[in-house]
Amino acid sequence: MIRSRSRHFLHLPLFLLALAALSLFPSCLAAKIKVPAPVKVAPDQGFTGIDGKWNTISLRVGNSEHISNVLVSTASQQTWLINPLACPPKNQTESGRTVEVADGQCIDSRGKTFNKTESTTWTQNGFFQLWILKNIGLSGVGEYGWDTVGLGNKGEETVTLKNTTIGTIVSPNFWLGHFGVNPKPTNFSSYADPSPSYMTLLFEQKKIPSLSFGYTAGAPYYAKPFYSSLTLGGVDASRYIPNELSFGFAPDNERDIVVGVVGIKAKGATKSDVNLLARESFSMYIDSTIAELWLPVEVCNAFEKAFGLKYDNATGLYLVDDVMHQALKAENASITFSLGQQYATNLTIDITLPYAAFDLQASPPYRGLQNSTNYFPIRRGAEEDQWILGRTFLQEAYLQVDWERYNFSVSAINTSYNLPADIVPYYSAQYGPAWQPPKKKTSLQTKDIVGIAVGISLGIIFILCGVFWWFWRKRQRALKEKLEAAYAAQAAAAVDVKESHENSDYSSSPHKDAKTNVFPKAELSAGLDSLPTTPGPPVEAEDTERQVFEMMGDIPPSLEAGGRQLSEKESMMVREARINGIDPSGTPETSPEPGDRLQRQAPLSPSEVTIVSRRTPVSPLTPLMPRDPRDAASLEGSDTFFQPPKPRTPRDGRFLEGDDSLLSPISPVDGSDASRRRFSYEA
Ligand SMILES: *[C@@H]1O[C@H](CO)[C@@H](O)[C@H](O)[C@H]1NC(C)=O
Ligand SMILES: *[C@@H]1O[C@H](CO)[C@@H](O)[C@H](O)[C@H]1NC(C)=O
Ligand SMILES: *[C@@H]1O[C@H](CO)[C@@H](O)[C@H](O)[C@H]1NC(C)=O
Ligand SMILES: *[C@@H]1O[C@H](CO)[C@@H](O)[C@H](O)[C@H]1NC(C)=O
Ligand SMILES: *[C@@H]1O[C@H](CO)[C@@H](O)[C@H](O)[C@H]1NC(C)=O
Ligand SMILES: *[C@@H]1O[C@H](CO)[C@@H](O)[C@H](O)[C@H]1NC(C)=O
Ligand SMILES: *[C@@H]1O[C@H](CO)[C@@H](O)[C@H](O)[C@H]1NC(C)=O
Ligand SMILES: *[C@@H]1O[C@H](CO)[C@@H](O)[C@H](O)[C@H]1NC(C)=O
Ligand SMILES: *[C@@H]1O[C@H](CO)[C@@H](O)[C@H](O)[C@H]1NC(C)=O
Ligand SMILES: *[C@@H]1O[C@H](CO)[C@@H](O)[C@H](O)[C@H]1NC(C)=O
Repeated sequence: MIRSRSRHFLHLPLFLLALAALSLFPSCLAAKIKVPAPVKVAPDQGFTGIDGKWNTISLRVGNSEHISNVLVSTASQQTWLINPLACPPKNQTESGRTVEVADGQCIDSRGKTFNKTESTTWTQNGFFQLWILKNIGLSGVGEYGWDTVGLGNKGEETVTLKNTTIGTIVSPNFWLGHFGVNPKPTNFSSYADPSPSYMTLLFEQKKIPSLSFGYTAGAPYYAKPFYSSLTLGGVDASRYIPNELSFGFAPDNERDIVVGVVGIKAKGATKSDVNLLARESFSMYIDSTIAELWLPVEVCNAFEKAFGLKYDNATGLYLVDDVMHQALKAENASITFSLGQQYATNLTIDITLPYAAFDLQASPPYRGLQNSTNYFPIRRGAEEDQWILGRTFLQEAYLQVDWERYNFSVSAINTSYNLPADIVPYYSAQYGPAWQPPKKKTSLQTKDIVGIAVGISLGIIFILCGVFWWFWRKRQRALKEKLEAAYAAQAAAAVDVKESHENSDYSSSPHKDAKTNVFPKAELSAGLDSLPTTPGPPVEAEDTERQVFEMMGDIPPSLEAGGRQLSEKESMMVREARINGIDPSGTPETSPEPGDRLQRQAPLSPSEVTIVSRRTPVSPLTPLMPRDPRDAASLEGSDTFFQPPKPRTPRDGRFLEGDDSLLSPISPVDGSDASRRRFSYEA
């Protein structure tokens, strides 16, 4: 009887261990999966450009770690560098002799050219048409390949990836190269497999916590200039003033970061509340690749009227001469864009650009200019797909884009000085269910992590103690049973003699002396199930009984321990949620509830981990929209790359486009190209 019972109880430690292992499993997983931190790319210390003053970032390209200073492109998914052919050697006369020297001025002005032959890790791909910004007439050809690209200048290295997609360009339409933060792959028609973007590679190689970024272009016109801020896999919360408005992606694969413009108002020294919208609201694509704001013609006309701007037919720019410049500076108008998203929300966010943000200088060969000149960076866009909020806008706005959740937000920049960086990660669904951008400061994060660690350690210690204690009790009990069995044998021998003195013996005999305790003991064991009803037993029996009872009690506490493990998990999840920014008291999903729901929410339970594929990111928040790889149509004749097409002016052969084509809706360059375009208007 005793033996079978104790064998039955042998399952208990196993059960306990299993319970402990189970409840610790998520924590073990959490400990094993290292969530990468966001990457903050240090800006270059200065401003450059032929269409304004822009802040660049440094890329280290190839095994020679060639430095290129490039802009950030929110639309592009490629890295663009400047081909050495963009800056041909100059003829210089030195003591009567003409020698060819490198055009250092050109090379520096274009953020330094990249010579692929100086990198042994370069893999040649071919010549392809540039894809982005075709719709505003900025086409061109790039020589594509793959090579190593590192972010950050020497000494400020953050990440380096091998074999990334690079296009080298000559076209002055894109004066500086750029670093694309769009995660779409490039579908080169010569390769069946799409070539992944830098962002995707970063995420896949676990260098950033999600496919997301935060960016502001920098504002050189402040007393102390603001440099750009680019954070990959998160945002720098110190650079913007948070707001509630979150935009969903537009269905167009090529124009996803689209905002509705519901108001444009100007306020100046002599005027206030000037309405510049001049039409019903319209939508604009946010794209840092270009400098200007491409607005509907009516809106441009309203700007002309309000500020006396003059449109220059030859360049398509609003050139500003000295007289007008003085007048504009005196007026010092600030222009407020009210952005919203029709049908989704009534909320709007106002971004105000001071005149200084529009006070840009253009220099040759920009748009065929001969001389450097001030210009007002708005452009006429005939069609909806030409309306773009360019870099000018991002001087005063901070853009956060979550490519995985298909949403983004636009915030006004915080112009306070000397704010320490506050890098807040966005977590991919891959890293747990609580994957919303945190609203908390990062400093809290470490605290919470410590909290979780302490919690887990305490849990482990608690369980180990419980298990140890149980085994100890069990051993004690076994020992006692052994002893008792021995006593029982003795007692059995003596039972005939002392039969009538049982009770008095119990009450008086001390623990080990009791020779007759075997009898009640055996009975007790048999009557285990009805323990509470057992009448007040003699001392020794009571002792035994308590022991048995405690064993029974042992189970509830250990179950409780299991329960406490659950609540440990619970609190861990709450902490996790806090780290990841879910308001614990907010959505029912995160409110700590016992039971199934909680179990389902166990962080990083493998069945819950959604692997986010690069081509079809999964978002539970928005319906899945097809995000196609973007084509880079192959170029049949690569010679156009080398021949500057149709020089506009004899002086500068590098000017690429006729003006008319810029204002009219752009027809595809050739039929094959049109067929290669890949839009996803389908739901
Ligand atoms: C590129 O580098 C190679 C090797 O240094 C050199 O021979 C070549 O002239 C360079 N090309 C250009 C266009 O500068
Ligand atoms: C430089 O001079 C050479 C001949 O000495 C000539 O072929 C070349 O076109 C000149 N280049 C430029 C940019 O003037
Ligand atoms: C990429 O483009 C090529 C040629 O246009 C096509 O055959 C291939 O199916 C495309 N791949 C994807 C993934 O769209
Ligand atoms: C580089 O990436 C491209 C596109 O993904 C791939 O086709 C190529 O094989 C890769 N090369 C190496 C050396 O990994
Ligand atoms: C600019 O072009 C428009 C039409 O293209 C024409 O009507 C106008 O006269 C031109 N203005 C100047 C100053 O050339
Ligand atoms: C927006 O406002 C209109 C009128 O005030 C209201 O009918 C509509 O429900 C609101 N829409 C949302 C999404 O709040
Ligand atoms: C112009 O207006 C801005 C605010 O929009 C102000 O900060 C700045 O000091 C003004 N500049 C001048 C020269 O008045
Ligand atoms: C450019 O500047 C030069 C010298 O200042 C002047 O002679 C020339 O007319 C200007 N060209 C244009 C197109 O304004
Ligand atoms: C994306 O949507 C989530 C859930 O609604 C929200 O918490 C988050 O702030 C949004 N992100 C952006 C960048 O708007
Ligand atoms: C800018 O950030 C600082 C520090 O977080 C904050 O004190 C200040 O209020 C912010 N500025 C605005 C306009 O919100």
